[in-house]
Amino acid sequence: MSKRAENEVPEYIGFRMSKQKWIEVLKPREDTYKWINGGAAGYAYVNKNKIVKIIRGSKYEDKMEFIKNSEKEVNFQERAAKHKLAPKIFYKGFVDESFFIEDIPYYYYIVMEYLSPDKWEHLWRGQNDTLMCKFINDLVDKVGIINDFDPTAHIYINKNNVVMIDYGRCIECKEENCKKRMADTLEIVCGRNKRSYSPVSYSSHNRSHNRSSRSHNRSHSRSSRSHSRSHSRSSRSHNSYGSHNSYGSHRTRKQSRK
Ligand SMILES: Nc1ncnc2c1ncn2[C@@H]1O[C@H](COP(=O)(O)OP(=O)(O)O)[C@@H](O)[C@H]1O
Ligand SMILES: [Mg+2]
Repeated sequence: MSKRAENEVPEYIGFRMSKQKWIEVLKPREDTYKWINGGAAGYAYVNKNKIVKIIRGSKYEDKMEFIKNSEKEVNFQERAAKHKLAPKIFYKGFVDESFFIEDIPYYYYIVMEYLSPDKWEHLWRGQNDTLMCKFINDLVDKVGIINDFDPTAHIYINKNNVVMIDYGRCIECKEENCKKRMADTLEIVCGRNKRSYSPVSYSSHNRSHNRSSRSHNRSHSRSSRSHSRSHSRSSRSHNSYGSHNSYGSHRTRKQSRK
């Protein structure tokens, strides 16, 4: 295997126990992770039923803030996973070192259950809103959090099981309208709101949608992470779904480094 070019991210990586960090692997072995996805925030590599999400620490961010945000993401996901609403996390950690050739000073990794495409597929609005609403109910009632920022491409289904990935944008939510806020972001109508859904309430739906799109603009220290990501698995379908998530940016491994 030839060595990768300067501007490429590694195709294979493995965790080196002695150094407690990820290293490039040139000859894949049993425990090697293979690149599947890369975007503004980081990279995803898969090994059988596990995926590692490597979140790049940006040199423009405060390191402690970066660690705090990564731990918050892990905390949300672990809480959701207890109720089978998120992939289980196996290991995670902060590495205070540049990731390979990347011009980043540090990164955070999360090794979790991989929702492999042979079992799981994206759950999009309109496909099974009943299950999507049930998911929102569970997330709010059992975990007390919502994602009213970018949940759209992050919800998956396998039979009747629905889970969400990417807890980086979740927030604690204990108010009364938590469920509606998340449903509005997903552009679905759940529960009591559903019964009152009519041409009359359509305008109110639009209003709430505007509200939710305004919330996309709220200042967020990790906002640089959220857009212009590649969603390689989202290319399969639903380009008609008018949400703020940007599909169609299908970077290759080579292109994933700016
Ligand atoms: N547990 C998982 N199972 C399957 N695919 C995943 C999983 N976690 C991440 N991915 C894939 O990696 C992409 C990036 O992960 P995500 O958590 O959304 O990172 P980011 O914070 O960069 O948006 C996802 O859009 C999805 O394609
Ligand atoms: Mg994401």
